[in-house]
Amino acid sequence: MSDHTVTFTDNRTGQTIELPVRESTLGPGAIDIGRFFRDTGYFTYDPGFLSTASCQSDLTYLDGDQGQLLYRGYPIEQLAEKSSFLEVAHLMLNDELPNQDELDSFTDIIIHHSMLNESLKRLFGGFYHDAHPMAIMVGVVGSLSAFYHDSTDITNARHREIAAHRLIAKMPTIAAASYKHSIGEPQVYPDNSLSYAGNLLNMMFSIPCEPYEVNPIAERALDLIFILHVDHEQNASTSTVRLAGSSLANPFACIASGIAALWGPAHGGANEAVLDMLEEIGDVSNIHKYVAKAKDKNDSFRLMGFGHRVYKNYDPRARIIRTMCHEVLSELCQQDDPMFELARELESIALNDEYFIERKLYPNVDFYSGLIYKALGIPTNMFTVMFAIARTVGWVSQWMEMIGEDNQRIGRPRQLYTGPTQRDYVEIDKR
Ligand code: SDX
Repeated sequence: MSDHTVTFTDNRTGQTIELPVRESTLGPGAIDIGRFFRDTGYFTYDPGFLSTASCQSDLTYLDGDQGQLLYRGYPIEQLAEKSSFLEVAHLMLNDELPNQDELDSFTDIIIHHSMLNESLKRLFGGFYHDAHPMAIMVGVVGSLSAFYHDSTDITNARHREIAAHRLIAKMPTIAAASYKHSIGEPQVYPDNSLSYAGNLLNMMFSIPCEPYEVNPIAERALDLIFILHVDHEQNASTSTVRLAGSSLANPFACIASGIAALWGPAHGGANEAVLDMLEEIGDVSNIHKYVAKAKDKNDSFRLMGFGHRVYKNYDPRARIIRTMCHEVLSELCQQDDPMFELARELESIALNDEYFIERKLYPNVDFYSGLIYKALGIPTNMFTVMFAIARTVGWVSQWMEMIGEDNQRIGRPRQLYTGPTQRDYVEIDKR
C-alpha cells in the first residue's frame, strides 16, 4: 500500500487519525476504513453505497462521467464490434483474450455442459403455466446444487471452474425451458451444432412439427446484446452474489440470489418495465404528460430506462444498442417499430428537459434493449431472463475473484441504530 493517507479529526474529542488510501489503476482511490470503528468508535454511514467501494476488483471499470466501460481493460465498443459473447466470457474468467485454440476448447466445454439433468426437467412442470420466467429461473438455478455435488466444494479451484462453466452453459437451456413452459410447448434440447445465441433462439422458437432456421441477424444481435450485459462492476445483483458467496454458499445458490436481485424494476427488470411504460404512453402526444409525472415528487412514476447510479453521461451500452436497434428493426421488421419511434421521441424530449439535464439522467442499457428483444420475437416477460443469461458471466467471474482472495471473509455490514433504548417487558394485562 502507498504512503498516501488522509486525516480524520473528531471536532468533539480532538482525536486525529491517519487513514491509508489504496491507490487504483483507474478511477478514484479508496480510503481504507477497515480499522476505523476500532480506532474511532464510529461506523461510517452510506446507505445505497454511493461512496463505498465494497471490494477490490480487476474485472470491470466504469467511468460514469466519461461514459466509459472496460472489461479487463478492453473498451466495450471494441468488444461489441470485434468479439463474441463466449470470447468475452473467456476473457472475464481467464483475464486474457483467448487464442483460437483456447476459444475453440472453451466453446466446446460450454457446448457440452448445456443439457439439463432429465430429473431437473420435471421441476418446470411444478410451476403454473403463467409463472413469470424469472420466478422459474430463480428456482431452477437454486436447485442445481441438488444435482451437482461434484462441483460445490468451493475451496477446490477445479470445482469452482466446473460450476462456472455449468452455469454459463445451462442458463440458456433453463431460460428457453422456462419460456416453453409458459407457452405450453415441449422443451427443446440444445443443438451442439449451433452457436450460443443460435442455440438459445432454437430452443425458444423451434417446435417438433417443422424445421427452424436461426436468423443470422437475430443471432448476431443477441450475441452483441449479451456482450453488453456481461458485467458492470458492483451493481446490485453482483453485490448480492458477492455477499452470498462470502458466506461460502455454493455457487448455484449465489447465482440464484443474483437472479433474484436483478429482477427488480430499478435494476435488470427495467427492460421489461420500459416496454410496459412505452405501451402505457402509447402515443407521442402523451409523452409530455408522462415526463411531467416522472418529475412530480408526489408521483412514484419514473421514466424506466433512464438514469443510472454511476453513468452521469450516456450509458455507452445504450449508445451501441440504440444504433443496433435501428439496424435490427429495419432489417427484421422492414420498418421502424412505432415503439422505437416513440422511444426516440421520448429520449429526445427528456434529454432536452432541465429536470433530466440537471440530474444527468440519460438512457441506460435497458432503454433500448427491450425493443430489440421484441423485434426478435422475445416476449416482454423474458427480457430480464435475457439479461440474467448474459450477466451470469459477470456474476461467476466476480464470485471466483472474491472466493479466490487471500483475505476473503464474510460480508457483514453494521448499522446506525435509531430504535428504542432498552426497556422492560410489560405483561399483557398491563398494556
Ligand atoms: C441497471 O448499477 C448498475 O450498473 C445497473 C446496470 C447493470 O448493468 O448492472 O447498469 C443495469 O440496473 C440500469 C438501471 C435500470 N433502472 C432503470 O432504468 C429504472 C429507472 N431509473 C431509476 O430508478 C434510477 O435512475 C436508478 C435506480 C437507476 C438510479 O437511482 P439512484 O442512483 O439512487 O438515483 P436517485 O434515485 O437518487 O435519483 C437521483 C435524482 C432523484 O431526484 P431528486 O431527489 O434529486 O430530485 O434523479 C431522479 C430521482 O428522483 N431520478 C429520476 C429517474 N432516475 C432518477 N427521475 C425520473 N425518472 C428516472 N428514471
